[in-house]
Amino acid sequence: MQPWQEHLDEVLGEVLLDEETLAKRIAELGEQITRDYEAANTQELVIVGILRGSVVFLSDLIRHIQLPLILDFMAVSSYTKGTKTSGVVRILKDLSTAIDGKDVLIVEDIVDTGLTLKNLGEILTARHPRSLRICTLLDKPSRRTCEVMVDYRGFEIEDKFVIGFGLDYDDMYRHLPFVGVLKADAVE
Ligand code: IMP
Ligand code: MG
Repeated sequence: MQPWQEHLDEVLGEVLLDEETLAKRIAELGEQITRDYEAANTQELVIVGILRGSVVFLSDLIRHIQLPLILDFMAVSSYTKGTKTSGVVRILKDLSTAIDGKDVLIVEDIVDTGLTLKNLGEILTARHPRSLRICTLLDKPSRRTCEVMVDYRGFEIEDKFVIGFGLDYDDMYRHLPFVGVLKADAVE
């Protein structure tokens, strides 16, 4: 066993979603998105990936979307007051694309309290897109503190902290090819 794998054993609990399960569901989402935007007569879909957690999901998803599309990214951070997030987001990296009159699809790794997407939704709505929808790989509805309309959802999960497939703990483990549960005793 590599030293790296020994270290993984210390933080990784059960595997919640394996590679095959993820691939199958992501293909379905891509096909559904293709159908929906085709029906809406979309000329050019703007996919907005939220850095950094969405990148693994996003790169798989877009290869199942058969529409003319533009790929862009945003990075946001939540203002924190002590350990609580205030619910206000700060833009760290903005879009390079003007989205007025465009069909925009936000792609996220996970919706937890919903605060990030609620704020981001308001910011992007103010730019007058033709439509604005949300696609998330994971959804933890039991943690929601505000209302967010999720249009496309890969999987609903319980209130457990997960890592891998883009999701981090302390900026690590994003490259794991599956979604696993962080062991409770790994949290400092
Ligand atoms: P929200 O604003 O509370 O919905 O937070 C969403 C963000 O919190 C996500 O984009 C993730 O970066 C992070 N997050 C929430 N739950 C988890 C988790 O279980 N694992 C890793 N990151 C998480
Ligand atoms: Mg994160």
